[in-house]
Amino acid sequence: MKDQSNTNLHVSRAGKTDEFYTDISMVENELKHYREYFKDKIVFCNCDDPAMSNFWRYFQINFYMLGLKKLISTHFEKDKPSYKLEIIRQDDKIGQLAFLPDYVQTPLQSDGDFRSPEAVELLKQTDIVVTNPPFSLFRDYMAQLKAFHKDFLVIGNLNAVTYKEVLPSIRSNEIWLGYTSGHFWFKVPQSYEEKRTDFKIDENGQKWRRMGNICWYTNLDTASRHEDITIFKKYRPELYPSYDNYEAIEVPKVSDIPSDYKGVMGVPITFLTRFNPDQFEIVDVKSSGLLLTQGNGTVKSMYKRVLIKNKRVQGL
Ligand SMILES: C[S@@+](CC[C@H](N)C(=O)[O-])C[C@H]1O[C@@H](n2cnc3c(N)ncnc32)[C@H](O)[C@@H]1O
Repeated sequence: MKDQSNTNLHVSRAGKTDEFYTDISMVENELKHYREYFKDKIVFCNCDDPAMSNFWRYFQINFYMLGLKKLISTHFEKDKPSYKLEIIRQDDKIGQLAFLPDYVQTPLQSDGDFRSPEAVELLKQTDIVVTNPPFSLFRDYMAQLKAFHKDFLVIGNLNAVTYKEVLPSIRSNEIWLGYTSGHFWFKVPQSYEEKRTDFKIDENGQKWRRMGNICWYTNLDTASRHEDITIFKKYRPELYPSYDNYEAIEVPKVSDIPSDYKGVMGVPITFLTRFNPDQFEIVDVKSSGLLLTQGNGTVKSMYKRVLIKNKRVQGL
C-alpha cells in the first residue's frame, strides 16, 4: 500500500507523461547500429532508475562486448537524495564477453535531476549520453546536451523537431534522427489510468501504453542519413497545389515528392526520419499556419510541415 501511494505521488509530481519505460527490444534495435562508437567510451544514462531501465541493462550486459570504459546511471527520485550506479572497466575482464560486470552504488546528495550540479559533473566526464529522457523536460534536456557538446542518442517525440532547442541543430545538420521510429509500446506505472486505445495489460498485470511519433535523436553519424530517399514521381501543377501564403507546393506523402521540382516543397515531418542532407536542404519547419485552398474552395490549415528543396534539381 505504501509503495503504491509513493508511486502515485512520484508520478503526479514528475509529470503525467514522464514514466514511460523503454522496452529492451527498442533499445537493442537502435543501438545495434552504433556499436563502433562505444569502444573506450564513458556512457551516461542520466534519467534511468537502474532497477527499471533497459538502457542500464543493455549496457551492463554488453559492457565488454562494446568495449566500454565506464557506465554511469543516475536514478531520479524527486526531492529525495538519490544514488548513482557505476561500472568501471577491469582490464583483466576484457574479452570475457559472457561476463556480467558488477556495479558500485554511491549515494547522491540531491534527487538525481539531470540538471543538478552532481549530475552535471558526471555529464562533463561523459562521452556519450544514451537514454529516454522525460518528455515534459525534453527542451531543457536537449539544451543541456548542446551546452556541454555531448554525443548522444536519446528517444523523443518527432514533434519536438520544431522546438527552438532542436530545430536549428537539425537544419544545420548537427543533429538528426536515428534508424527506428513510429509507434512503440512502453511499460507504465500501475497508477497510470487505463485507456481505451493504445493501452494493454499483459499476463503479469503490467500496464503498457503505445506512443506514436516516437524517434531517436542523435549526433552520432548513421548510414541511413547518407542514403537517398527513392523518388520517381514527376511534377504536375494540378497534382501539387501551392500554399496560399507561402511559396511552396504541398506534398502529402514523402513517397510523392516529385523528383524534378526545383522549388520549395512542404512535406510531413516524418520526412526527417529519412532525410539525407546531400539530397535535400531544409528551408524551414512550420508547426502550423500554412494555408491550402481545397478543390471545394474551403481553406485548410496544414499540420506540421518541413519545407525542403531538392539539392540535385538545378534552378530557382
Ligand atoms: C520516459 S521515462 C524513461 C525512463 C528510462 N530512461 C527508460 O527509458 O526506461 C523518463 C524518466 O526520467 C525521470 N525523470 C523525470 N524528471 C527527471 C529529471 N529532472 N532528471 C532526471 N530524470 C528525470 C522519470 O522519473 C522517468 O523515469
